[in-house]
Amino acid sequence: MTQLPAQPSEPTLPSSSALVATLEELYQRYLPLRDGKVADYIPELAKMNPDCFSICIATVDGQVYEVGDSEQLFTIQSISKVFVHGLALEDYGRERLLTKVGVEPTGDAFNAIVLDEQSKRPYNPMVNAGAIAITSLIKGADATEKLNRMLDMFRRYVGHDIFIDVATYVSERSTGDRNRAMGYLMHHFGMIEDPVDDALDLYFQQCSLMVNCRDLAVMAATLANQGVNPQTGDRAVEAGYVRDILSVMYTCGMYNFAGEWAYLVGLPAKSGVCGGIIAIVPDQIGIAVFSPPLDFRGNSVRGVKVCEALSHQFGLHLFDSSRGCHNFLKHWSVK
Ligand code: DON
Repeated sequence: MTQLPAQPSEPTLPSSSALVATLEELYQRYLPLRDGKVADYIPELAKMNPDCFSICIATVDGQVYEVGDSEQLFTIQSISKVFVHGLALEDYGRERLLTKVGVEPTGDAFNAIVLDEQSKRPYNPMVNAGAIAITSLIKGADATEKLNRMLDMFRRYVGHDIFIDVATYVSERSTGDRNRAMGYLMHHFGMIEDPVDDALDLYFQQCSLMVNCRDLAVMAATLANQGVNPQTGDRAVEAGYVRDILSVMYTCGMYNFAGEWAYLVGLPAKSGVCGGIIAIVPDQIGIAVFSPPLDFRGNSVRGVKVCEALSHQFGLHLFDSSRGCHNFLKHWSVK
């Protein structure tokens, strides 16, 4: 009698509470890690509690899994650059935007005063110079309209009102000479047309927006979901620009750690000196980690460790050959 080949059996799917247990295990594993230092070059940032720690995952069908201090508010800092880049793409289009800001990784620190030798453009929208140039391009009749357009855009990503922490904004503005120097250099080369101080003001405001780790996970999941907030159903950014945003995150989002990150974690991501990191698994999940102590490059120490572990554990690396059969949502049956 011919023996039928054994049917591949469906893996037993851990429940979503098992996913929370996994996040809890990662939280406990990295909680004792005390490396790194809270950013203090902006006095208000030095007040952050180094013990705060949270890991959140939001799925493209709107569920959120969270452990730790997921409701603790902090300022979004450089993670804002991702979303303002999206708004500038909508305002200017890919081709025009490329004439003002490049898409090359720098290999330099995020605050390096460096422009492309040939074109005089800042290297990319994820470093300070590029982000300031991007912010200067946001359309609006005056400073208030530009700020309101930006707040509206962030509101669509988080799904609720979002506010500026005035103390951080004032602190950024009064210690922002390095950013000011970059702004004037770019103005000299015609990469910023607006009055430089207006662009810097808006940039300091975007960095001072208050979010929590859960908000960041939903924002990341919105990018994973082709620009639609999976909880509200609101479109936050045109679908056609999501690939631009994610490509630049992939190559430039982790500053001068971007290459190693792409190699080890393999996901588009962005960090900020607040200690937040977001990572996107397209069409599946947004990951957010918050832990203020930073390594010497400005990336959250625990954040990097958690993302490496998640990527490894679930085969999330974009080029992982086993990825096709390790779909995260199927694995956890959270659909
Ligand atoms: O430009 C600055 O200094 C900050 N407001 C933003 C810096 C930031 O988060 C860069 N990140 N690692």
